[in-house]
Amino acid sequence: MTKVITYGTYDFLHEGHIRLLKRAKELGDYLIVGVTAEDFDMARGKINVGQSLMERVEAIRQTGLADRIIVEEYEGQKIDDIRRYEADIFTVGSDWLGKFDYLNEYCKVVYLDRTEGISSTDIRNNSQKLRIGLVGETNIVNKFKNECRYVNGIEISGIYASTLESLDDDLKNLAMQCDSIEDLLVRSDAVYIASKPSEHYSQVMTALKAGVHVLCESPITLTIRQFEEVSRMAVDRNLVLMDGIKTAYSLAFNRMMLLIKSGVIGDVLSVDTTCTSLIDINEKALPSHIWNSITAWGPTALLPVFMIMGTDYSQAVRFSKRLNNNDDFDVFTKVSFIFEDGVASIKVGQGVKSEGEMVVSGTKGYIYIPAPWWKTDYFEVRYENPSDNKRYFYQLEGEGIRYEILSFFNLIKGHRSYNRISKEISRQIIEIVGQDG
Ligand code: CTP
Repeated sequence: MTKVITYGTYDFLHEGHIRLLKRAKELGDYLIVGVTAEDFDMARGKINVGQSLMERVEAIRQTGLADRIIVEEYEGQKIDDIRRYEADIFTVGSDWLGKFDYLNEYCKVVYLDRTEGISSTDIRNNSQKLRIGLVGETNIVNKFKNECRYVNGIEISGIYASTLESLDDDLKNLAMQCDSIEDLLVRSDAVYIASKPSEHYSQVMTALKAGVHVLCESPITLTIRQFEEVSRMAVDRNLVLMDGIKTAYSLAFNRMMLLIKSGVIGDVLSVDTTCTSLIDINEKALPSHIWNSITAWGPTALLPVFMIMGTDYSQAVRFSKRLNNNDDFDVFTKVSFIFEDGVASIKVGQGVKSEGEMVVSGTKGYIYIPAPWWKTDYFEVRYENPSDNKRYFYQLEGEGIRYEILSFFNLIKGHRSYNRISKEISRQIIEIVGQDG
């Protein structure tokens, strides 16, 4: 009996897949189909897969072509599978020509012609489009624009910026074509706002009134009253208003949260985060795209505090070192919190450098994320006995921004489970970093 093995994601199973599976089957007597798991796809940078693993496996089963279906979960698994199932032939489409020659050592490798004119990417691109307008002038807008490329179905509709200095050439050209935010909104289904925080409220309000979904860099507004207003407006108009903190969407950060919630370090008694970036604060007039330390870093530093400890603190004590005595530019701020069952602290600064790490201390052990923890792809769970320690690594692409864009898109499509930052957390962030405190 000749056994054939082949692999794929098989998202929205299409004619190209079916033709390949039929020809693969004809190569032998028994066909094994490997379907890639979500985590493995994520790790290899394929973040857009629209169907769950169960749905994709079920679609393969229904073709009746596979004698056995397996799940591909890790790099190098193909070699293990070929040995385990004693496969005689490994086959895959010609888009992979040469890539799997190394498997010749274990079995025969056959590349089959790929069917022209159809792919899961096309199906995803055509199934739903989202035109995103950009608002803002900081470097992060450039990064955001670049990351949109990795999310199928996203189109940049334009940019509205008050100054062009920090924008790349593509965005400069786009910005010239847009005179006002209203101009941008008429060609957009959604906007990403990364302007000065003091501009957020009026821009978010204008966008929501125009019926456009909003992803806004945190803090969404600078006062609680404004936040309540924009939140109500979003609910009334059935629009998504999402808080933009990219760390919330990174896989490692989310896995770490799950481990904490499942009790691996016992009861959490303390969460401590530090975020700093050293800029030249001696300039007389700080450029307008430089926000003060607590506004720039506060939302990120506060995110794990509120996600782990909750938002019900009894006291928040704040120390700030300001540029000049009355200046609202803090070069460094430390906020300490007291909760019923623990404490937390954040340290943020743009005029001071420190170790950008995060530590979550529990009654059984602690979690340590090395600097820069907000772009985390790695963390450790540490115990009294070092031999019990565990290390975790999850690939992070594009600083987490592309996962954030994908979540925004999925929220717009109505998949609520993609919401990572609750309204209460957004509100507490404003309470600490905004102008009410
Ligand atoms: N395949 C094919 N013809 C196509 C599309 C895919 O022969 N038009 C083959 C691939 O070469 C692979 C298998 O089908 O052997 C599974 O491919 P997969 O990557 O799941 O499908 P794509 O449509 O290429 O997906 P994407 O657009 O996400 O890359």
